[in-house]
Amino acid sequence: MISKEFIVDGYERIIHIEHEVSGLDAFIVIHNTKLGPSIGGIRCHKYSSSEAQLDDTMRLSEGMTLKCAAAGLKYGGGKTTINAIKIKDRSLAYQILGKTVEELKGSYICAGDVGTTVEDLFKVKDATEYVAGISLDSSLPTAMGTHTSIKALLKRDGLKTKDQTFTVQGLGKVGKHLVKMLDGKIEAYDPFVADLDGVTHIEESKILQGKFYVPCALGGVLNGFSLASIKSEYVCGSANNVFGTRKDILTAHDMGIKYVPDFITNCGGVIAVALDFENKDYKTALTTGLTKRINKILDKAESDNIPVQHAAEELANDRLK
Ligand code: NAI
Repeated sequence: MISKEFIVDGYERIIHIEHEVSGLDAFIVIHNTKLGPSIGGIRCHKYSSSEAQLDDTMRLSEGMTLKCAAAGLKYGGGKTTINAIKIKDRSLAYQILGKTVEELKGSYICAGDVGTTVEDLFKVKDATEYVAGISLDSSLPTAMGTHTSIKALLKRDGLKTKDQTFTVQGLGKVGKHLVKMLDGKIEAYDPFVADLDGVTHIEESKILQGKFYVPCALGGVLNGFSLASIKSEYVCGSANNVFGTRKDILTAHDMGIKYVPDFITNCGGVIAVALDFENKDYKTALTTGLTKRINKILDKAESDNIPVQHAAEELANDRLK
């Protein structure tokens, strides 16, 4: 096995692992451990170059630092990527990765991510105890956090979920859990799901016409184009990177659109993984705990008259100072 370490400003550790027999070609990046051990999933993806893979790992590990800080966790940001193209012996590759994680002595706790299966994580566990949330379906806590966010947003205006109609975009893993939790009327659009119980299926063109829009599919849905025609007063769903650009955050603020930032709404997965590592249940954190954090963010946005997204980022960054 060859393991090399790089030094890059702003990152605590960057480790490159290559293992000839298994074909493992992985980067482990520990971005920040100021709040506690770093935590983050193992992404297995087909990367066209080592540079692209390293860039992705660095970006994702930094995102985890902000996400953990925003979620109120005592953990920092880390991430692993494996180049799927190079793998020759998958079981062995994940075991070798586990050995390296073990050598980091708990400064990085790994978990599942896109491309890594439960079986893969059990191979990692053969070599290290620093792996969390192995059998966890993160879409359930993600839906729970989204549900809490929707309720908190409406409660600020003295409204209840049972009296609302929600327009859900995307009925995948999270969307399906969420529509069961919401007690209002549900209308939804998903090009691949047309017959879900309790849901009125609508056309794509109607997604932004309802009062409460719940994006649970793609990112970038609030952009220059959609903001020019949106009728929704509230936006809150699990989709990552809801705003297309930083400018769209200002436009939404000027328009008075009410929302909870995506990295707060969809923090259920990381909270559940972190609490799983501590053998604790995540329900209280994703109900009362999350509601308190959301109210703090919305209070700050109101008192400073700044976009809610900026308020959430400032509060998370304050924890990292
Ligand atoms: P998924 O892949 O299970 O479901 C996505 C659904 O969106 C699919 O049913 C798909 O047919 C539908 N879809 C695709 N294009 C669409 C369009 N143009 N309009 C309407 N529907 C469309 O994904 P999942 O896990 O439910 O995640 C949903 C969102 O939440 C994603 O943005 C994801 O990044 C985010 N998220 C998910 C987490 C999780 O644990 N699953 C954690 C944090 C964020």
